Amino acid sequence: MAAVAQETPTQTRTDDAVVRIQGLQAHYGARQVLHDIELTVAPGEIMVIMGGSGSGKSTLLRHLVGLMRPTAGSVELLGVDITRAPALEMQRLRRRIGVAFQGGALFSSMNVLDNIMLPLREHTQLDRQTMEIMARLKLEVVNLAGAEDLMPAELSGGMVKRAAVARAIVMDPALLFFDEPSAGLDPAVSSALDDLILKLREAMNMSIVVVTHELESAFKIADRITVLDQGRILTVDDVAGIRRSDNARIQNLLNRRAENAEVDAETYLRRLTGEAAPAGDPQAAGTKQDAGAV
Ligand SMILES: Nc1ncnc2c1ncn2[C@@H]1O[C@H](COP(=O)(O)OP(=O)(O)O)[C@@H](O)[C@H]1O
Ligand SMILES: [Mg+2]
Repeated sequence: MAAVAQETPTQTRTDDAVVRIQGLQAHYGARQVLHDIELTVAPGEIMVIMGGSGSGKSTLLRHLVGLMRPTAGSVELLGVDITRAPALEMQRLRRRIGVAFQGGALFSSMNVLDNIMLPLREHTQLDRQTMEIMARLKLEVVNLAGAEDLMPAELSGGMVKRAAVARAIVMDPALLFFDEPSAGLDPAVSSALDDLILKLREAMNMSIVVVTHELESAFKIADRITVLDQGRILTVDDVAGIRRSDNARIQNLLNRRAENAEVDAETYLRRLTGEAAPAGDPQAAGTKQDAGAV
């Protein structure tokens, strides 16, 4: 964990990487939003992807989980190039990967236990009783034991997130992706979620990629932090390296975190539903490149 970060502050451990992105370019239509992305994640590592609103964090994550295909470059997860893998290999890979997206995305018509059992139903032939036991174990991991029969509408924001995490880990994935785990949560709840992420790595030895704009959270959980800026990687470094960086843009990011936090959740949701930012949106106008381009 920390040792990995200290020994390899930059991307040198590529031999046994669980994530390896090479030469990735991404576009929305004609507009390029990610440039020359190179990224590796070591086994057992927590890699945090940071950056201001509109810097490309969510787009990068969409490429990592196969929701978008790069216009150039490759994305390897657990040794499989997901830009080229045949369907069967992708299906096998998906069982080893957990994804907890913002909002939780629980099915409102199912209780918590059924929501968490969904991946087991989809990917395994286990009998119902075994699936229930596995789901209950994961509910304990996320501190939701006793909430089995509740419907999503009865859960608090923090509980929804934790239920989504339980579902993401029910198959014991080797690799786990989080998008904005603490967005919209009060500080105490979001801090508990950080603890949960650390616990998952310790107890289950998962490699975890977390996208966040919350600096405090990033500093607490990261082995290394990748800082995105206008679609490019500005730096990859451990927490100490980011803290002492004298790069003006990184310092800017550190100092302006409150502003970003306020607007990002909204713009994020809008983008997730595919709506472009309206003209004059302060986020879109936040950088010269973005102004008027969306
Ligand atoms: N669905 C989309 N269609 C067109 N442009 C998009 C879409 N989603 C994001 N963008 C643009 O791509 C850039 C990166 O966005 P995004 O990856 O959402 O950044 P972040 O998650 O860091 O806020 C932004 O300029 C944004 O306006
Ligand atoms: Mg985003």
